[in-house]
Amino acid sequence: MADANQRKCGRISQKVQARGCSGSTPVGLPHPAIVTDDIHIAPYDVIFIGFPIWWYVAPTVINSFLEIHDFAGKKIVLFATSGGSGFGKAVAGLQQSAPQAEIAEGEIFNGFFSEEQIKAFFEKYV
Ligand SMILES: Cc1cc2nc3c(=O)[nH]c(=O)nc-3n(C[C@H](O)[C@H](O)[C@H](O)COP(=O)(O)O)c2cc1C
Repeated sequence: MADANQRKCGRISQKVQARGCSGSTPVGLPHPAIVTDDIHIAPYDVIFIGFPIWWYVAPTVINSFLEIHDFAGKKIVLFATSGGSGFGKAVAGLQQSAPQAEIAEGEIFNGFFSEEQIKAFFEKYV
């Protein structure tokens, strides 16, 4: 497992280096390795990614996820929970990790949302 972890780390840093990036978000936090990942992005045009807002951005493991897949030409729609803030700089922070994707702020899901409301959110983008 340690080897797998290191290989993923290597993959992330090679990709990040190829783009001339530092491998960190605007606030300088490292991007942790993703050990298990069997997700196939290629067949999808629109990809929804959800996370809790941390310090007005996405947790940096979301950057890691974007960096180990090819999101060129894809639309990424964000949804999140928060303690009350909006998306902050989440789009800007994630765009660094998927520069050729179109990333949109979707919805902050704080409080109660009915199944119909959640369905309507997803249907707006597909
Ligand atoms: C490290 C950390 C940073 C956070 N930063 C923010 C923030 O910038 N803005 C905000 O509204 N909430 C912030 N929160 C609150 C989380 O967004 C909130 O707890 C989470 O979305 C709720 O999901 P949970 O019930 O799974 O924790 C932060 C929480 C943590 C742990």
